[in-house]
Amino acid sequence: MIVLLLGAPGAGKGTQAALINKKYGLRHVSTGDLLRAEVAAGTPVGKSADAIMKSGALVPDDMILGLLKNALKTAGKGIILDGYPRTKAQTEELIKLIQNMGEKINAVINIKLTEKEIVDRIVMRRQCKKCGNIFNLRFIKNFDGKCPKCGSADVYQRPDDNEAAAKHRLEVYHAQTAPVVEFFKDKDFYKEVDGSKPVEKVFEEIEKIIGK
Ligand code: AP5
Repeated sequence: MIVLLLGAPGAGKGTQAALINKKYGLRHVSTGDLLRAEVAAGTPVGKSADAIMKSGALVPDDMILGLLKNALKTAGKGIILDGYPRTKAQTEELIKLIQNMGEKINAVINIKLTEKEIVDRIVMRRQCKKCGNIFNLRFIKNFDGKCPKCGSADVYQRPDDNEAAAKHRLEVYHAQTAPVVEFFKDKDFYKEVDGSKPVEKVFEEIEKIIGK
């Protein structure tokens, strides 16, 4: 099973992908996470991608394709793809890749959210390095610097999670990723969910699409 999660930056793709992974056992492949791992490891790809990501622009298609091909070598129980495709060229490459794997796209789920809510969510997002938990300071009273899930103090803010980069990411999304949504919109496996609802309500909508 292949599920594509679309949505503007901060719409909740990573949050929902973690829940889908837990319930359905599908592997979460996030191109943002793949790139951040390259940056952390200081590889040539990571060195080239670092400044581009901080600015909120997209890294070149050929750079991301190499990482993606590697991550999609085996489908296993299935894959949730988060953050790819983001351009028309990436969409074409993905369709070829999935055909070569002998798989098909089962669902494209677009998480919709207003721009104001997106920027608010992004600047208040934090992530735990130890358990990977993504959370938001807006929902935590008297934040003590520790992960609310595992208690680790190894909590960080992404370098592109500031207002200026978030706004640029949104501009890039409208210019380069909106055509991807248009490409899938008339397919019967394309569905939209309201990302403004609480996390568990958004997930209920997704469960209805994937199946209980
Ligand atoms: P990437 O890491 O993919 O970032 P993104 O698409 O901008 O998405 P985010 O991770 O910011 O948000 P999300 O939708 O996952 O939201 P989350 O669940 O965290 O990409 C980063 C960069 O890498 C790009 O800018 C680009 O440079 C590069 N890149 C990546 N893929 C690429 C590609 N294919 N081609 C070229 N370049 C690429 O939620 C956000 C916050 O909201 C969290 O705090 C969360 O707790 C909270 N939240 C989530 N759901 C809810 C809810 N329902 N209610 C209230 N709060 C919620």
